[in-house]
Amino acid sequence: MRLNLKILYIFLIITVLSCKTKAPFRYSLQKSAIADQSMVVTAHPLASEIGLKILKKGGNAVDAAIAVQYTLAVVLPVAGNIGGGGFMVLRMADGTTNTLDFREKAPGKASRDMYLDEQQAVIPRLSIDGHLASGVPGSVAGMDAAFTRYSQLKDFAALIDPAIALARDGFQISQQQADGLNRTREAFIKLNTTTPAFVKNTEWKAGDLLVQTELAKTLTRIRDQGAAGFYEGETADLIVAEMKAGGGIISHQDLKDYEAIWRQPLVSTYKEYGIISMPPPSSGGLALAQLLKMVAPYPIRTYGFQSAEAIHLMAEAERRVYADRATYLGDSDFVTVPIRSLIDDNYLKNRMMDFDPNRANASEMVGAGLVTPVESEETTHFCIVDAAGNAVSLTTTLNGGYGAKTVVSGAGFLLNNEMDDFSAKPGVANMFGLIGNEANAIEPGKRMLSSMTPTIVTKDNEVYLVVGTPGGSTIITSVFQTILNVIEFDKTLPDAVSLGRFHHQWKPDAIQLDELIELSPPVKKNLLKKGHHLKQRSNFGRVEAILRRADGRLEGAADVRGDDDARGF
Ligand code: GLY
Repeated sequence: MRLNLKILYIFLIITVLSCKTKAPFRYSLQKSAIADQSMVVTAHPLASEIGLKILKKGGNAVDAAIAVQYTLAVVLPVAGNIGGGGFMVLRMADGTTNTLDFREKAPGKASRDMYLDEQQAVIPRLSIDGHLASGVPGSVAGMDAAFTRYSQLKDFAALIDPAIALARDGFQISQQQADGLNRTREAFIKLNTTTPAFVKNTEWKAGDLLVQTELAKTLTRIRDQGAAGFYEGETADLIVAEMKAGGGIISHQDLKDYEAIWRQPLVSTYKEYGIISMPPPSSGGLALAQLLKMVAPYPIRTYGFQSAEAIHLMAEAERRVYADRATYLGDSDFVTVPIRSLIDDNYLKNRMMDFDPNRANASEMVGAGLVTPVESEETTHFCIVDAAGNAVSLTTTLNGGYGAKTVVSGAGFLLNNEMDDFSAKPGVANMFGLIGNEANAIEPGKRMLSSMTPTIVTKDNEVYLVVGTPGGSTIITSVFQTILNVIEFDKTLPDAVSLGRFHHQWKPDAIQLDELIELSPPVKKNLLKKGHHLKQRSNFGRVEAILRRADGRLEGAADVRGDDDARGF
Protein backbone atom coordinates (compact mmCIF):
# COMPACT_ATOMS: atom_id res chain seq x y z
CA MET A 1 0.00 0.00 0.00
CA ARG A 2 2.76 2.35 1.04
CA LEU A 3 4.75 1.48 -2.07
CA ASN A 4 1.68 2.01 -4.26
CA LEU A 5 1.15 5.44 -2.78
CA LYS A 6 4.78 6.29 -3.38
CA ILE A 7 4.52 5.21 -7.05
CA LEU A 8 1.32 7.22 -7.46
CA TYR A 9 3.02 10.26 -5.94
CA ILE A 10 6.04 9.98 -8.27
CA PHE A 11 3.69 9.53 -11.25
CA LEU A 12 1.76 12.66 -10.29
CA ILE A 13 4.93 14.73 -9.96
CA ILE A 14 6.17 13.56 -13.37
CA THR A 15 2.78 14.38 -14.93
CA VAL A 16 2.65 17.85 -13.39
CA LEU A 17 6.25 18.57 -14.37
CA SER A 18 5.79 17.35 -17.92
CA CYS A 19 2.62 19.47 -18.29
CA LYS A 20 4.47 22.49 -17.00
CA THR A 21 7.43 22.05 -19.30
CA LYS A 22 5.46 21.06 -22.44
CA ALA A 23 6.49 23.64 -25.01
CA PRO A 24 3.77 25.08 -27.27
CA PHE A 25 3.62 23.48 -30.71
CA ARG A 26 6.06 24.92 -33.24
CA TYR A 27 7.14 23.79 -36.66
CA SER A 28 10.85 23.44 -36.92
CA LEU A 29 11.59 25.93 -39.66
CA GLN A 30 14.63 26.04 -41.90
CA LYS A 31 15.18 29.70 -42.67
CA SER A 32 18.06 29.00 -45.02
CA ALA A 33 19.57 26.04 -46.78
CA ILE A 34 22.40 25.23 -49.14
CA ALA A 35 22.14 22.30 -51.53
CA ASP A 36 23.87 20.82 -54.55
CA GLN A 37 20.90 20.19 -56.81
CA SER A 38 17.48 21.52 -55.95
CA MET A 39 15.83 24.07 -53.69
CA VAL A 40 12.28 24.91 -52.64
CA VAL A 41 11.38 28.00 -50.60
CA THR A 42 7.76 28.56 -49.59
CA ALA A 43 5.66 30.18 -46.88
CA HIS A 44 5.02 26.86 -45.09
CA PRO A 45 7.29 23.97 -44.11
CA LEU A 46 4.75 21.35 -45.24
CA ALA A 47 4.60 22.95 -48.69
CA SER A 48 8.40 23.10 -48.93
CA GLU A 49 8.61 19.44 -47.89
CA ILE A 50 6.04 18.32 -50.46
CA GLY A 51 7.69 20.37 -53.22
CA LEU A 52 10.98 18.71 -52.42
CA LYS A 53 9.38 15.24 -52.42
CA ILE A 54 8.04 15.84 -55.92
CA LEU A 55 11.51 16.85 -57.10
CA LYS A 56 13.02 13.73 -55.52
CA LYS A 57 10.37 11.66 -57.30
CA GLY A 58 11.62 12.95 -60.65
CA GLY A 59 9.29 15.89 -61.10
CA ASN A 60 10.66 19.13 -62.48
CA ALA A 61 10.31 22.61 -60.97
CA VAL A 62 6.87 23.06 -62.57
CA ASP A 63 5.61 19.76 -61.14
CA ALA A 64 6.86 20.84 -57.73
CA ALA A 65 5.23 24.26 -58.16
CA ILE A 66 1.84 22.67 -58.88
CA ALA A 67 2.14 20.46 -55.79
CA VAL A 68 3.18 23.47 -53.68
CA GLN A 69 0.31 25.62 -55.00
CA TYR A 70 -2.26 22.96 -54.02
CA THR A 71 -0.57 22.32 -50.67
CA LEU A 72 -0.59 26.02 -49.83
CA ALA A 73 -4.32 26.09 -50.68
CA VAL A 74 -4.72 23.78 -47.68
CA VAL A 75 -2.00 24.72 -45.19
CA LEU A 76 -1.93 28.49 -45.78
CA PRO A 77 -5.59 29.52 -45.95
CA VAL A 78 -4.69 33.18 -45.44
CA ALA A 79 -3.20 33.38 -48.95
CA GLY A 80 -2.71 29.96 -50.55
CA ASN A 81 -5.71 29.20 -52.67
CA ILE A 82 -7.78 27.57 -55.32
CA GLY A 83 -10.24 30.47 -55.13
CA GLY A 84 -7.73 33.13 -56.15
CA GLY A 85 -5.13 33.64 -58.83
CA GLY A 86 -1.52 34.48 -59.50
CA PHE A 87 1.42 34.60 -61.85
CA MET A 88 4.21 32.16 -62.65
CA VAL A 89 7.52 33.17 -64.18
CA LEU A 90 9.73 30.39 -65.41
CA ARG A 91 13.09 29.88 -67.01
CA MET A 92 13.78 26.41 -68.27
CA ALA A 93 17.22 24.84 -68.24
CA ASP A 94 17.49 25.34 -72.01
CA GLY A 95 17.23 29.10 -71.50
CA THR A 96 13.66 29.53 -72.68
CA THR A 97 11.45 31.74 -70.57
CA ASN A 98 7.73 32.05 -70.13
CA THR A 99 5.09 33.50 -67.85
CA LEU A 100 1.67 32.21 -66.94
CA ASP A 101 -1.12 34.61 -66.07
CA PHE A 102 -3.79 32.99 -63.94
CA ARG A 103 -5.04 36.26 -62.53
CA GLU A 104 -8.74 36.47 -61.65
CA LYS A 105 -11.13 38.19 -64.06
CA ALA A 106 -14.07 40.48 -63.50
CA PRO A 107 -17.33 38.51 -63.88
CA GLY A 108 -19.51 39.14 -66.93
CA LYS A 109 -22.03 41.06 -64.83
CA ALA A 110 -19.35 43.36 -63.39
CA SER A 111 -19.60 47.01 -64.31
CA ARG A 112 -17.47 50.09 -64.01
CA ASP A 113 -19.46 51.71 -61.19
CA MET A 114 -20.52 48.58 -59.33
CA TYR A 115 -18.94 49.74 -56.07
CA LEU A 116 -20.35 53.29 -56.20
CA ASP A 117 -23.51 54.64 -54.58
CA GLU A 118 -25.98 56.99 -56.22
CA GLN A 119 -23.77 59.95 -55.39
CA GLN A 120 -20.90 58.22 -57.19
CA ALA A 121 -19.06 57.67 -53.89
CA VAL A 122 -17.27 54.37 -53.23
CA ILE A 123 -19.39 52.20 -50.91
CA PRO A 124 -17.02 51.26 -48.09
CA ARG A 125 -15.80 47.63 -48.12
CA LEU A 126 -18.07 46.45 -50.94
CA SER A 127 -15.04 45.49 -53.04
CA ILE A 128 -13.28 43.96 -50.01
CA ASP A 129 -15.74 41.81 -48.05
CA GLY A 130 -17.94 38.98 -49.19
CA HIS A 131 -19.33 37.62 -52.42
CA LEU A 132 -19.30 40.74 -54.59
CA ALA A 133 -15.57 41.27 -53.94
CA SER A 134 -14.59 38.11 -55.78
CA GLY A 135 -13.19 37.88 -59.27
CA VAL A 136 -13.47 34.66 -61.27
CA PRO A 137 -10.75 32.42 -59.78
CA GLY A 138 -7.78 31.47 -61.95
CA SER A 139 -5.52 29.19 -59.91
CA VAL A 140 -6.95 25.83 -60.98
CA ALA A 141 -6.86 26.76 -64.68
CA GLY A 142 -3.32 28.03 -64.15
CA MET A 143 -2.09 24.80 -62.62
CA ASP A 144 -3.85 22.84 -65.36
CA ALA A 145 -2.12 24.89 -68.07
CA ALA A 146 1.27 24.55 -66.36
CA PHE A 147 0.83 20.79 -66.03
CA THR A 148 -0.20 20.33 -69.65
CA ARG A 149 2.73 22.32 -71.01
CA TYR A 150 5.62 21.55 -68.69
CA SER A 151 5.02 18.52 -66.47
CA GLN A 152 7.80 15.99 -66.51
CA LEU A 153 6.14 13.60 -64.07
CA LYS A 154 2.90 13.52 -66.10
CA ASP A 155 1.03 12.23 -63.07
CA PHE A 156 -1.34 14.94 -61.85
CA ALA A 157 -2.69 12.80 -59.01
CA ALA A 158 0.80 12.55 -57.52
CA LEU A 159 0.95 16.36 -57.43
CA ILE A 160 -2.41 17.00 -55.77
CA ASP A 161 -2.77 13.90 -53.54
CA PRO A 162 -0.58 15.30 -50.74
CA ALA A 163 -2.84 18.36 -50.53
CA ILE A 164 -5.96 16.19 -50.49
CA ALA A 165 -4.54 14.16 -47.59
CA LEU A 166 -3.68 17.30 -45.61
CA ALA A 167 -7.18 18.72 -46.13
CA ARG A 168 -8.88 15.43 -45.27
CA ASP A 169 -6.76 14.42 -42.29
CA GLY A 170 -5.89 17.90 -41.09
CA PHE A 171 -2.62 19.61 -40.27
CA GLN A 172 -1.37 21.38 -37.19
CA ILE A 173 -1.65 25.13 -37.30
CA SER A 174 1.14 27.44 -36.16
CA GLN A 175 0.87 30.20 -33.57
CA GLN A 176 0.75 32.82 -36.33
CA GLN A 177 -2.08 30.92 -38.01
CA ALA A 178 -3.99 30.49 -34.74
CA ASP A 179 -3.74 34.24 -34.15
CA GLY A 180 -4.92 34.97 -37.70
CA LEU A 181 -7.92 32.65 -37.46
CA ASN A 182 -8.90 34.02 -34.02
CA ARG A 183 -8.60 37.60 -35.27
CA THR A 184 -10.81 36.86 -38.27
CA ARG A 185 -13.47 34.81 -36.44
CA GLU A 186 -16.15 37.53 -36.40
CA ALA A 187 -15.63 38.32 -40.09
CA PHE A 188 -15.88 34.61 -41.00
CA ILE A 189 -19.17 34.39 -39.12
CA LYS A 190 -20.53 37.58 -40.66
CA LEU A 191 -19.49 36.92 -44.25
CA ASN A 192 -20.50 33.27 -44.61
CA THR A 193 -23.81 31.60 -45.31
CA THR A 194 -22.70 28.46 -43.40
CA THR A 195 -20.05 28.05 -40.70
CA PRO A 196 -16.67 27.40 -42.33
CA ALA A 197 -13.96 25.06 -41.00
CA PHE A 198 -12.02 28.15 -39.89
CA VAL A 199 -14.50 28.87 -37.09
CA LYS A 200 -14.67 26.80 -33.92
CA ASN A 201 -16.29 27.33 -30.57
CA THR A 202 -13.08 27.87 -28.64
CA GLU A 203 -9.98 29.87 -29.50
CA TRP A 204 -7.53 28.28 -31.93
CA LYS A 205 -4.18 27.32 -30.42
CA ALA A 206 -0.88 26.43 -32.03
CA GLY A 207 -0.90 22.69 -32.68
CA ASP A 208 -4.68 22.42 -33.21
CA LEU A 209 -5.65 20.29 -36.17
CA LEU A 210 -7.37 22.15 -39.04
CA VAL A 211 -9.45 19.62 -40.97
CA GLN A 212 -11.04 20.80 -44.26
CA THR A 213 -13.29 17.94 -45.37
CA GLU A 214 -15.18 19.88 -48.03
CA LEU A 215 -11.95 21.26 -49.49
CA ALA A 216 -10.59 17.69 -49.67
CA LYS A 217 -13.64 16.72 -51.74
CA THR A 218 -13.19 19.69 -54.09
CA LEU A 219 -9.52 18.86 -54.57
CA THR A 220 -10.50 15.27 -55.29
CA ARG A 221 -12.86 16.44 -58.04
CA ILE A 222 -9.99 18.50 -59.49
CA ARG A 223 -7.72 15.46 -59.32
CA ASP A 224 -10.27 13.27 -61.10
CA GLN A 225 -11.62 15.73 -63.67
CA GLY A 226 -8.84 18.29 -64.07
CA ALA A 227 -9.88 21.95 -64.40
CA ALA A 228 -13.44 20.80 -65.19
CA GLY A 229 -13.59 19.54 -61.61
CA PHE A 230 -13.59 23.20 -60.58
CA TYR A 231 -15.05 25.22 -63.45
CA GLU A 232 -17.85 22.80 -64.29
CA GLY A 233 -20.08 20.24 -62.58
CA GLU A 234 -20.52 20.08 -58.83
CA THR A 235 -17.91 22.68 -57.82
CA ALA A 236 -19.23 25.20 -60.34
CA ASP A 237 -22.78 24.55 -59.09
CA LEU A 238 -21.63 25.16 -55.51
CA ILE A 239 -19.88 28.41 -56.48
CA VAL A 240 -22.91 29.73 -58.33
CA ALA A 241 -25.24 28.68 -55.49
CA GLU A 242 -22.96 30.50 -53.05
CA MET A 243 -23.11 33.60 -55.25
CA LYS A 244 -26.90 33.46 -55.28
CA ALA A 245 -27.02 33.01 -51.49
CA GLY A 246 -24.75 35.98 -50.83
CA GLY A 247 -25.48 38.50 -53.58
CA GLY A 248 -22.45 37.70 -55.75
CA ILE A 249 -22.40 37.73 -59.55
CA ILE A 250 -20.07 34.94 -60.75
CA SER A 251 -22.02 32.76 -63.18
CA HIS A 252 -21.58 29.32 -64.74
CA GLN A 253 -20.60 31.06 -67.97
CA ASP A 254 -17.87 33.09 -66.21
CA LEU A 255 -16.39 29.89 -64.81
CA LYS A 256 -16.59 28.06 -68.12
CA ASP A 257 -14.97 30.97 -69.96
CA TYR A 258 -12.00 31.36 -67.62
CA GLU A 259 -8.63 30.70 -69.25
CA ALA A 260 -5.08 31.09 -67.99
CA ILE A 261 -2.83 32.87 -70.50
CA TRP A 262 0.81 32.33 -71.43
CA ARG A 263 2.44 35.73 -71.89
CA GLN A 264 5.81 36.93 -73.09
CA PRO A 265 7.90 37.74 -70.01
CA LEU A 266 8.88 41.32 -69.36
CA VAL A 267 12.63 41.13 -69.90
CA SER A 268 15.02 43.93 -69.02
CA THR A 269 18.54 44.34 -67.73
CA TYR A 270 20.31 45.80 -64.75
CA LYS A 271 24.01 46.21 -65.46
CA GLU A 272 25.23 42.71 -66.40
CA TYR A 273 22.11 41.01 -65.02
CA GLY A 274 19.04 39.90 -66.94
CA ILE A 275 15.68 40.52 -65.26
CA ILE A 276 12.78 38.24 -66.21
CA SER A 277 9.48 39.24 -64.68
CA MET A 278 5.74 39.52 -65.11
CA PRO A 279 4.13 41.80 -67.72
CA PRO A 280 0.62 43.33 -67.35
CA PRO A 281 -1.88 42.65 -65.95
CA SER A 282 0.75 42.82 -63.25
CA SER A 283 2.49 46.13 -62.85
CA GLY A 284 5.28 44.29 -61.03
CA GLY A 285 7.73 43.45 -63.80
CA LEU A 286 7.38 46.79 -65.50
CA ALA A 287 7.74 48.78 -62.29
CA LEU A 288 10.75 46.70 -61.22
CA ALA A 289 12.43 47.29 -64.59
CA GLN A 290 11.78 51.02 -64.27
CA LEU A 291 13.16 51.16 -60.74
CA LEU A 292 16.35 49.27 -61.56
CA LYS A 293 16.99 51.34 -64.68
CA MET A 294 16.38 54.58 -62.80
CA VAL A 295 18.95 53.85 -60.10
CA ALA A 296 21.51 52.14 -62.38
CA PRO A 297 23.35 55.37 -63.36
CA TYR A 298 24.02 56.27 -59.71
CA PRO A 299 26.89 54.88 -57.56
CA ILE A 300 24.44 53.30 -55.14
CA ARG A 301 27.01 50.75 -53.94
CA THR A 302 29.23 53.54 -52.64
CA TYR A 303 26.25 55.19 -50.94
CA GLY A 304 25.95 52.05 -48.79
CA PHE A 305 23.09 49.87 -47.54
CA GLN A 306 20.21 51.95 -46.17
CA SER A 307 22.28 55.11 -46.12
CA ALA A 308 20.29 58.34 -46.45
CA GLU A 309 21.65 58.76 -50.01
CA ALA A 310 20.57 55.26 -51.09
CA ILE A 311 17.12 55.49 -49.47
CA HIS A 312 16.57 58.96 -50.96
CA LEU A 313 17.50 57.80 -54.47
CA MET A 314 15.41 54.63 -54.26
CA ALA A 315 12.39 56.42 -52.75
CA GLU A 316 12.50 59.12 -55.43
CA ALA A 317 12.57 56.45 -58.14
CA GLU A 318 9.67 54.69 -56.41
CA ARG A 319 7.66 57.93 -56.23
CA ARG A 320 7.92 58.35 -60.01
CA VAL A 321 7.26 54.70 -60.82
CA TYR A 322 4.08 54.50 -58.73
CA ALA A 323 2.85 57.71 -60.37
CA ASP A 324 3.30 56.02 -63.77
CA ARG A 325 1.61 52.89 -62.46
CA ALA A 326 -1.47 54.86 -61.42
CA THR A 327 -1.73 56.54 -64.79
CA TYR A 328 -0.80 53.96 -67.41
CA LEU A 329 -1.18 50.46 -66.06
CA GLY A 330 -4.08 48.09 -66.55
CA ASP A 331 -4.93 44.82 -68.29
CA SER A 332 -3.14 45.02 -71.65
CA ASP A 333 -5.84 42.83 -73.21
CA PHE A 334 -8.23 45.76 -72.66
CA VAL A 335 -6.14 48.92 -72.68
CA THR A 336 -2.96 49.96 -74.42
CA VAL A 337 -0.14 49.93 -71.90
CA PRO A 338 2.90 51.71 -73.35
CA ILE A 339 5.28 49.10 -71.97
CA ARG A 340 8.26 49.78 -74.23
CA SER A 341 7.99 53.54 -73.73
CA LEU A 342 7.78 53.18 -69.98
CA ILE A 343 11.01 51.19 -69.76
CA ASP A 344 12.80 53.14 -72.45
CA ASP A 345 16.22 54.34 -71.24
CA ASN A 346 15.67 57.92 -72.41
CA TYR A 347 12.23 58.09 -70.89
CA LEU A 348 13.58 56.95 -67.53
CA LYS A 349 16.54 59.29 -67.75
CA ASN A 350 14.13 62.17 -68.33
CA ARG A 351 11.96 60.96 -65.49
CA MET A 352 14.93 61.40 -63.15
CA MET A 353 15.97 64.79 -64.58
CA ASP A 354 14.40 66.63 -61.67
CA PHE A 355 15.91 64.27 -59.09
CA ASP A 356 17.74 66.39 -56.54
CA PRO A 357 20.20 64.51 -54.29
CA ASN A 358 19.44 67.01 -51.56
CA ARG A 359 15.68 67.42 -51.78
CA ALA A 360 12.63 65.18 -51.88
CA ASN A 361 10.19 66.00 -54.68
CA ALA A 362 6.71 66.40 -53.17
CA SER A 363 3.99 64.08 -54.48
CA GLU A 364 0.90 65.97 -55.42
CA MET A 365 -1.49 65.30 -52.55
CA VAL A 366 -5.08 64.20 -53.04
CA GLY A 367 -7.35 64.37 -49.99
CA ALA A 368 -9.61 61.34 -50.18
CA GLY A 369 -8.56 57.81 -49.44
CA LEU A 370 -4.86 58.34 -48.99
CA VAL A 371 -4.48 56.05 -46.07
CA THR A 372 -1.87 53.68 -44.81
CA PRO A 373 -3.15 50.18 -45.52
CA VAL A 374 -5.25 48.76 -42.75
CA GLU A 375 -5.82 45.37 -44.34
CA SER A 376 -3.17 42.72 -44.13
CA GLU A 377 -1.31 42.47 -47.40
CA GLU A 378 -1.49 38.75 -47.77
CA THR A 379 -0.38 36.94 -50.81
CA THR A 380 2.26 34.26 -50.96
CA HIS A 381 5.33 33.59 -53.03
CA PHE A 382 7.46 30.53 -53.66
CA CYS A 383 10.65 29.78 -55.57
CA ILE A 384 11.83 26.46 -56.92
CA VAL A 385 14.97 25.42 -58.79
CA ASP A 386 15.33 21.78 -59.84
CA ALA A 387 18.40 19.66 -60.51
CA ALA A 388 18.28 20.32 -64.25
CA GLY A 389 18.32 24.08 -63.67
CA ASN A 390 14.66 24.83 -64.39
CA ALA A 391 13.46 27.71 -62.23
CA VAL A 392 9.98 28.79 -61.15
CA SER A 393 9.05 32.01 -59.39
CA LEU A 394 5.35 32.03 -58.48
CA THR A 395 3.22 34.52 -56.58
CA THR A 396 -0.39 33.67 -55.78
CA THR A 397 -3.07 35.43 -53.80
CA LEU A 398 -6.57 35.86 -52.49
CA ASN A 399 -5.67 39.57 -52.20
CA GLY A 400 -6.39 40.49 -48.55
CA GLY A 401 -5.81 38.00 -45.74
CA TYR A 402 -8.33 35.14 -46.30
CA GLY A 403 -9.56 37.07 -49.37
CA ALA A 404 -13.25 37.93 -49.23
CA LYS A 405 -13.41 35.80 -46.04
CA THR A 406 -16.29 33.97 -47.69
CA VAL A 407 -16.03 30.20 -48.11
CA VAL A 408 -17.99 28.44 -50.85
CA SER A 409 -20.43 26.28 -48.86
CA GLY A 410 -20.01 22.62 -49.64
CA ALA A 411 -16.75 23.26 -51.50
CA GLY A 412 -14.66 24.48 -48.56
CA PHE A 413 -12.45 27.09 -50.24
CA LEU A 414 -12.13 30.81 -49.71
CA LEU A 415 -13.09 33.31 -52.40
CA ASN A 416 -10.69 36.08 -53.33
CA ASN A 417 -11.41 39.80 -52.92
CA GLU A 418 -9.33 40.70 -55.94
CA MET A 419 -11.97 43.08 -57.34
CA ASP A 420 -10.50 45.65 -54.94
CA ASP A 421 -7.38 45.71 -57.11
CA PHE A 422 -9.43 47.46 -59.79
CA SER A 423 -9.82 51.18 -59.58
CA ALA A 424 -13.37 51.35 -58.17
CA LYS A 425 -13.31 55.07 -58.99
CA PRO A 426 -10.46 56.84 -60.74
CA GLY A 427 -8.35 58.77 -58.25
CA VAL A 428 -9.75 57.00 -55.16
CA ALA A 429 -7.33 54.73 -53.30
CA ASN A 430 -7.92 51.01 -52.83
CA MET A 431 -7.11 49.10 -49.65
CA PHE A 432 -3.39 49.34 -50.35
CA GLY A 433 -3.65 53.11 -50.71
CA LEU A 434 -3.02 52.64 -54.44
CA ILE A 435 -4.65 55.00 -56.83
CA GLY A 436 -5.75 53.87 -60.25
CA ASN A 437 -7.09 55.49 -63.31
CA GLU A 438 -9.14 54.74 -66.42
CA ALA A 439 -6.64 52.07 -67.50
CA ASN A 440 -7.61 49.99 -64.45
CA ALA A 441 -11.36 50.68 -64.49
CA ILE A 442 -13.68 47.68 -64.13
CA GLU A 443 -14.92 45.94 -67.29
CA PRO A 444 -16.48 42.50 -67.67
CA GLY A 445 -13.80 39.87 -68.35
CA LYS A 446 -10.93 42.24 -67.57
CA ARG A 447 -8.10 41.35 -65.19
CA MET A 448 -7.46 43.73 -62.30
CA LEU A 449 -4.03 45.35 -62.09
CA SER A 450 -1.60 43.58 -59.77
CA SER A 451 1.67 44.42 -58.06
CA MET A 452 2.87 40.82 -57.92
CA THR A 453 6.47 40.58 -59.05
CA PRO A 454 7.66 37.00 -59.39
CA THR A 455 11.14 37.46 -60.83
CA ILE A 456 14.16 35.54 -62.07
CA VAL A 457 17.52 37.30 -62.35
CA THR A 458 20.12 35.82 -64.68
CA LYS A 459 23.86 36.30 -64.89
CA ASP A 460 26.19 34.84 -67.53
CA ASN A 461 23.13 33.27 -69.11
CA GLU A 462 22.34 31.22 -66.00
CA VAL A 463 19.72 31.56 -63.30
CA TYR A 464 21.30 33.73 -60.61
CA LEU A 465 18.47 34.76 -58.28
CA VAL A 466 14.84 33.65 -58.02
CA VAL A 467 12.82 36.06 -55.90
CA GLY A 468 9.37 37.30 -54.96
CA THR A 469 7.14 38.26 -52.05
CA PRO A 470 3.61 39.03 -50.91
CA GLY A 471 2.77 42.51 -49.66
CA GLY A 472 0.22 44.27 -51.89
CA SER A 473 1.63 47.56 -53.11
CA THR A 474 4.90 46.90 -51.25
CA ILE A 475 5.69 43.81 -53.34
CA ILE A 476 7.50 45.75 -56.05
CA THR A 477 9.70 47.73 -53.69
CA SER A 478 10.52 44.68 -51.55
CA VAL A 479 11.70 42.75 -54.61
CA PHE A 480 13.64 45.84 -55.75
CA GLN A 481 15.39 46.10 -52.38
CA THR A 482 16.17 42.40 -52.20
CA ILE A 483 17.83 42.46 -55.63
CA LEU A 484 19.93 45.49 -54.69
CA ASN A 485 20.74 43.97 -51.29
CA VAL A 486 22.32 41.03 -53.10
CA ILE A 487 23.86 42.74 -56.13
CA GLU A 488 24.95 46.11 -54.74
CA PHE A 489 25.10 45.84 -50.98
CA ASP A 490 26.73 42.38 -50.74
CA LYS A 491 24.24 41.12 -48.17
CA THR A 492 24.08 37.42 -47.48
CA LEU A 493 20.91 35.90 -48.91
CA PRO A 494 19.24 35.42 -45.48
CA ASP A 495 19.95 39.07 -44.65
CA ALA A 496 18.87 40.25 -48.09
CA VAL A 497 15.40 38.72 -47.65
CA SER A 498 14.89 39.47 -43.97
CA LEU A 499 16.49 42.80 -43.10
CA GLY A 500 14.16 45.74 -42.50
CA ARG A 501 12.57 47.39 -45.53
CA PHE A 502 11.21 50.75 -46.65
CA HIS A 503 8.60 51.65 -49.23
CA HIS A 504 7.39 54.72 -51.12
CA GLN A 505 4.37 54.56 -53.43
CA TRP A 506 3.96 58.18 -54.55
CA LYS A 507 0.78 58.63 -52.56
CA PRO A 508 0.67 58.89 -49.61
CA ASP A 509 3.82 60.98 -49.79
CA ALA A 510 5.88 59.16 -47.19
CA ILE A 511 8.66 56.66 -46.86
CA GLN A 512 7.06 53.79 -44.98
CA LEU A 513 9.41 51.95 -42.62
CA ASP A 514 8.74 48.41 -41.44
CA GLU A 515 9.33 47.20 -37.88
CA LEU A 516 12.61 45.47 -38.64
CA ILE A 517 14.37 48.43 -40.22
CA GLU A 518 17.12 49.96 -38.13
CA LEU A 519 17.89 53.45 -39.36
CA SER A 520 20.34 55.41 -37.27
CA PRO A 521 19.25 58.83 -35.96
CA PRO A 522 21.64 60.64 -38.39
CA VAL A 523 20.15 58.76 -41.39
CA LYS A 524 16.61 59.64 -40.28
CA LYS A 525 17.62 63.24 -39.67
CA ASN A 526 19.20 63.47 -43.10
CA LEU A 527 16.07 62.10 -44.80
CA LEU A 528 13.84 64.52 -42.90
CA LYS A 529 16.15 67.37 -43.84
CA LYS A 530 15.77 66.45 -47.49
CA GLY A 531 12.02 66.87 -47.02
CA HIS A 532 10.88 63.24 -46.70
CA HIS A 533 8.07 62.19 -44.42
CA LEU A 534 8.87 59.00 -42.51
CA LYS A 535 6.07 56.73 -41.42
CA GLN A 536 6.66 53.76 -39.13
CA ARG A 537 4.31 50.87 -39.88
CA SER A 538 3.84 47.13 -39.47
CA ASN A 539 6.09 44.64 -41.23
CA PHE A 540 5.52 44.02 -44.89
CA GLY A 541 6.60 41.35 -47.32
CA ARG A 542 7.71 37.78 -46.76
CA VAL A 543 10.46 37.47 -49.32
CA GLU A 544 11.56 34.05 -50.56
CA ALA A 545 14.68 33.69 -52.68
CA ILE A 546 17.07 31.19 -54.20
CA LEU A 547 20.58 32.20 -55.20
CA ARG A 548 23.07 30.39 -57.42
CA ARG A 549 26.30 30.79 -55.44
CA ALA A 550 29.72 31.32 -56.95
CA ASP A 551 30.55 27.65 -56.17
CA GLY A 552 27.54 26.55 -58.23
CA ARG A 553 25.49 25.37 -55.24
CA LEU A 554 22.00 26.66 -54.52
CA GLU A 555 21.22 28.76 -51.49
CA GLY A 556 17.63 29.23 -50.35
CA ALA A 557 16.44 31.84 -47.86
CA ALA A 558 13.02 32.32 -46.29
CA ASP A 559 11.85 35.52 -44.65
CA VAL A 560 11.97 35.59 -40.84
CA ARG A 561 8.63 37.42 -40.78
CA GLY A 562 6.54 34.24 -41.09
CA ASP A 563 6.51 30.43 -41.02
CA ASP A 564 8.48 30.46 -44.27
CA ASP A 565 10.88 27.63 -44.90
CA ALA A 566 13.72 26.77 -47.28
CA ARG A 567 14.93 23.26 -48.02
CA GLY A 568 16.96 21.54 -50.69
CA PHE A 569 18.92 18.43 -51.52
N1 GLY B 1 -3.64 41.46 -54.72
C1 GLY B 1 -2.39 42.07 -54.66
C2 GLY B 1 -1.80 42.27 -56.01
O1 GLY B 1 -2.12 41.53 -56.91
O2 GLY B 1 -1.05 43.17 -56.18
